[in-house]
Order: sequence, then C-alpha cells, then structure tokens
Amino acid sequence: MKDIKKENLMDKIVSLCKRRGFVFPGSEIYGGLSGTWDYGPLGSELKFNIKQEWWKTMVKDRDDIVGMSASILMNPKVWEASGHVSGFNDPLIECKTCHQRFKADQKDVILEHEKWHKEKKGKVDWTELKKFNLLVEAKVGVVEGEKNTVYLRGEITQGVHVNFKNILNSSRLKIPFGVAQIGKAFRNEITPGNFTYRSIEFEQMELQYYVKPDKNESMKQYEFWKNLRIDWYKSLGIKPDNLRFREHKKDELAHYAKAAWDVEYKSPFGWKECEGIHHRGDWDLSRHQEYSGQDMSYFDEETKEKYIPWVIETSGGVDRAALFFLIDAYSEEKDRVVLKLNPKIAPYKVAVFPLLANKPQLAKLARKIYDDLKKQFMTAWDDRGNIGKRYYSQDEIGTPWCVTIDFESLKDKKVTVRDRDSMKQKRVPIKELSEYFRERLENYV
Ligand code: GAP
Repeated sequence: MKDIKKENLMDKIVSLCKRRGFVFPGSEIYGGLSGTWDYGPLGSELKFNIKQEWWKTMVKDRDDIVGMSASILMNPKVWEASGHVSGFNDPLIECKTCHQRFKADQKDVILEHEKWHKEKKGKVDWTELKKFNLLVEAKVGVVEGEKNTVYLRGEITQGVHVNFKNILNSSRLKIPFGVAQIGKAFRNEITPGNFTYRSIEFEQMELQYYVKPDKNESMKQYEFWKNLRIDWYKSLGIKPDNLRFREHKKDELAHYAKAAWDVEYKSPFGWKECEGIHHRGDWDLSRHQEYSGQDMSYFDEETKEKYIPWVIETSGGVDRAALFFLIDAYSEEKDRVVLKLNPKIAPYKVAVFPLLANKPQLAKLARKIYDDLKKQFMTAWDDRGNIGKRYYSQDEIGTPWCVTIDFESLKDKKVTVRDRDSMKQKRVPIKELSEYFRERLENYV
C-alpha cells in the first residue's frame, strides 16, 4: 500500500467523492452555499448504511432503548429553557483588515491568516472577542409582518427531552432506559470547513439515556456508553490506532455538561472530534420543568421515590462518521484505488458483469443473477469496457465482491466471484451465491 501524503489525501477524497457521486458541493450550479453539501447516489447509500448500523446497535439489539423522530421546528421557548439562546455561543474575532471572521479558539487557522497578511506586507489587527450565537433562525407564519421567529434545532436532543413524559406514558419503560434519534441539526458555524467535517447543516445520531440521579450509578453507565461507542467505530472497520478518547477540560464543557469525552479520529487535518459522550445531569429535564411548568419527574414504583433522572448522552455526527469511514478506508495499491469499507456500510455489496456485453446468452444469465441478488443486496450492474476496468471501478467505490458470468457459466452453472481486498477469484455455484455473500457480509473482519 502506498504512503499517501496527508495534504494530498483530503484532495483525493474530495475529488473521488465528486467524481463517483458520494458528495457534491451544495447548490453548485448557483455558485454553492458555504458549509452545505449534497450526498449523491453513493453517498446517500453510505450514510443510510451507517444510520442502519447505528440503529441496530443502539435500538434494535436492545430491550431498554426506544427510538423517536421529533420535529425540527420547536416552540422557541424550548431553546430558552435548554440554554441555547443564552449559552450556545462560539468566541468570534474579526480581522479588521479584510473583515474575515474566525472562531477564536482555532489558533492554527488564525496563525495561517496572520501569515497570509504578513506575506502580502499587510497589517494584522483583530477586533475584541465577541460571543456569537450558533442557532439558525427561520420565520414561520402566513401573514407578512406577523411571522414568528423560530430556530432550526441546534442539536436533536431537545426533541427527546420535551417528550420524556409522553414516552414514559406510552410505554412500559423503567429507569434506566434510553431514547435514540437520528436527524438533522443546524448551526451557524463561523468557519465551516474541512469538507463535510464542519457544516452548517448536518445529521446527528444520539442516545439520551435516563438514569437514577446517583453519582456511582451514572458514572457506571457513562463508562459503559463511552466504551460501547468507540468500539462501534472499530467494529465497522476504523483502525484502532486512528481512534482515541479526549476529555473536555472544565473551561471547554458545554453549558449542559457535567463531564464530556470525545471520540476523536486521526484525520489528515489532525485529531478531530467524531462523537461526544456527555454527562448532562438533570440539566434538560429540570430546565424544561422550570420553563414549561410541567412535572418532568419520574416515579419509581419499586422504591416509591420521585426524582428528575440524570442523562448520559452519546452524540455522533453521521456526516463526520461517513467522512472518517471514507478516509480510513482509502488506499492506493500499485495501479488501483480501493475503498476498503466494511461491506455492511459499502454502498454496493455486489457488482454483476457479463464477460461480454454483446453476447445475448451471457447478458441474459447475468441479468437473471443480477435481478435475484438485487432483491437481497444493493447490487450494481456494469457491462462497459473490459473486466479489469470494471473491477477497478468497483474497487474505487468500495464494492466488496464482483461476479463475472462467462461462457463456462452457461455449462457449469458457476460464476467467478472476485474479492475486493485480496483480489482473489473463486468459482461459486450460482445457486449458492446469496448464501456466499450473506455469510461474508455478516462475518467480515
Ligand atoms: N447534543 C449534544 C451535541 O450536539 P456536540 O458535541 O455539539 O453535542 C455532537 O455535537 C456531534 O455532532 C459532534 O461530535 C459531531 O459529530 C456532530 N457535529 C456537531 N457540529 C457539527 C458540524 N458543524 N458539522 C458536522 N457535524 C457536526
């Protein structure tokens, strides 16, 4: 495998994403909109697969967690209660010379900007530090002049907490239990960048896990979720050396957090946050109780105790996960580029090729195999160019297996299955193909 320079790697990923239909710049034909990205056919499959895997681990495989899907727009009082209107701020400084704005804690970007001015023999002068609120505003209502300002949610979290009582009353859940959700969030980021890493519109996948208000019990749960989350990334193929935990210092903690650790990924632009695990204490439910006047407590039938539960949160970004899975999977070997994605998240699982497109017998059998496989796996069809080019084209988008139907197949009812990672080829009976792929899909390491 070639050693790819870090600075080149990002360019290569961005270019591959555009060329092969993973990610396009948002509203490109109108000159774009900074910090927005559109996922193409392959990117949307990748994201869908990541979300499915997350949902399986966090909801389907568990008895103590349910899912929900809250609305993006909420009563603006929610955001006053949650502390986002007053406390969801980034420190902002502005360059007095060119009026570009920066997040004051991004020291390397600021130094880069100063260097740029100095090279042009310009002056470097900064404004005082200001607080910049990240909530994105929108207007709702039908009468001009009487429209109400609402916020596009800055985190998907609050939709769960405001429904705490609804969920309790409509289920038989007992503490400890969790509510999982996946959805869009929006932030007026001062400096969106590093491709999809920091965008103004992005998707989160979160668990709000309600526990007894007890230090030992909550820390036990905290440790459990912290470890489960880092293991999830590893189980889907991220190299363990490229993952680490980082604890937030006291002055870094978000307004709601008692404790916070990030799962970080070693990206070409440094160690970067992928997911946060937060101890939110009773912040959310207490504040909603105070601001709404509704009782948000939990009654424990067994101990006859009434209390406001504490919350352990795992909050990951779907876009960041997709980007880091892509970066981690990218490799160059001799004359081919391969995305060694775990088959579970690869956009296509199988590609089917007739050896020669202009031989009706081959095309007919290949089509039949394709139609059968398509019912069970995301399957691609390719009959252009030579087989070598077709293999390389599928390698570049991470398709784990290619099936070639040749003249021999018409006689022995077997096809050639080529493995993406080893490039080894094997003859497999047509009637065993589904089982062959299913088994490998489940047991890929
Ligand atoms: N509810 C807690 C919360 O929102 P956060 O650390 O602000 O916590 C959680 O965000 C995750 O959401 C981050 O770890 C990251 O994966 C993702 N995220 C946050 N801001 C983002 C942005 N501007 N662009 C892309 N993903 C973002």
